[in-house]
Amino acid sequence: MIQKCATTFKLIGVLYSLIALLVLPVTAASAQFTPLNHSTAGKNFSFAVYGDIQDNYKEGHKALVGRLVKEPVSLVFNTGDISDHSGSDYDTQFYPIISDLLSRVPFFPAIGNHDIRWNSRESRVPFRRFFRETFRHLAGLPDNRHLAGDDNQRLWYSFKYNDVLFIVLDSNFFVDEGRYRKTHLLPEYKGYRDEQLTWLRDLLRKAAGDESLRARFVFFHHSPFTSAETGRKIPLLAIGGHPGHGTMLVNQQVPAERPGEKLYLLDLFRQTRVDAVFTGHEHYYERWTELITEKGRPAHKINWVVNGLGGVRPRGEPEYRQARLDRIIAKEPHFVAYRDRIRSANPAWSSDFRHAFPNEKHPNGAFHNYVVVTVDGKTIRFQTKDTTGTIRDQGSFSLAQSEKDVAGVAAE
Ligand SMILES: [Fe+2]
Repeated sequence: MIQKCATTFKLIGVLYSLIALLVLPVTAASAQFTPLNHSTAGKNFSFAVYGDIQDNYKEGHKALVGRLVKEPVSLVFNTGDISDHSGSDYDTQFYPIISDLLSRVPFFPAIGNHDIRWNSRESRVPFRRFFRETFRHLAGLPDNRHLAGDDNQRLWYSFKYNDVLFIVLDSNFFVDEGRYRKTHLLPEYKGYRDEQLTWLRDLLRKAAGDESLRARFVFFHHSPFTSAETGRKIPLLAIGGHPGHGTMLVNQQVPAERPGEKLYLLDLFRQTRVDAVFTGHEHYYERWTELITEKGRPAHKINWVVNGLGGVRPRGEPEYRQARLDRIIAKEPHFVAYRDRIRSANPAWSSDFRHAFPNEKHPNGAFHNYVVVTVDGKTIRFQTKDTTGTIRDQGSFSLAQSEKDVAGVAAE
């Protein structure tokens, strides 16, 4: 009798779940978020990165997620602009496509400019709920105390997975973008930019001396280095397909520890052994590298990946004429000032920026894509794939072996 009752209850439960699945939409409230599962230090693993979706869920994003879900990755990052219009897109468009992926792999978003309708409190609710839910389980970590509290606006965070440091930033406050400008002045965001950058500076400085860390990766939305012409057909900009954004990021000053001292975000990344920076915002795939050398000897390499085609329709094409880019890199005032800062820190050091993809052999950077990054011993391997799983760009680089390998650190 007891067994018969249990079977009946079980059947009713299964039936109820099936009805719920068919009738109820998948929303932030019902989606299953996979928490971070720390495994053994030293173990090799892979993670995936993709970018902008905006309003193209059913075509671009669905195909991309359908392929991505087959990848054996331990983590997935999104570099921002998940929605375009009202925050209700999260419930009606985004969750139905991504719910399967969310239930399998921890998902970590960076916030983009389209994710926010800064001046409408109501439309900010869904995106904040989504962002908060994805990294709620990180609030207990010592470096994430600022995440505590349900009504918290701070959307930057960090965690270690195995022996790799991951940092996700909110770059909306690093650029001074037209219609969102007044948001920077809202009382609730007073001090937001400096608080985040001070947190980043302290975290990276501490991590630079931590020899137990194998790699350091940073994610945020706006790209400092892009080469595409914009839809407005303005002349090629070496930094910032969106006029001025790259310039502001390259010029971004981090609160310095000593009075009178100046510290730039770009210099901080170099000095603290950051291995790769993943961004979005520009709607194409593009990759830059910065090779730091000491008396011509390679010392450290930073990869800058522009990864803004996670579903959104492509816009423009990256500029791949290397000779033209080389000329701009040689003369552009921000690049010149940056190289001068390196030389003044240590005359033996030099920095060489290269536009690595697209190139003469692979001129097309306008395809929906995700990047799979594999941490394999002291080497990082990456493969950029389109929605059919075809590899469109790939490579590898060695990690900095010690703190002394990084330009500028030894001189301080
Ligand atoms: Fe954007």
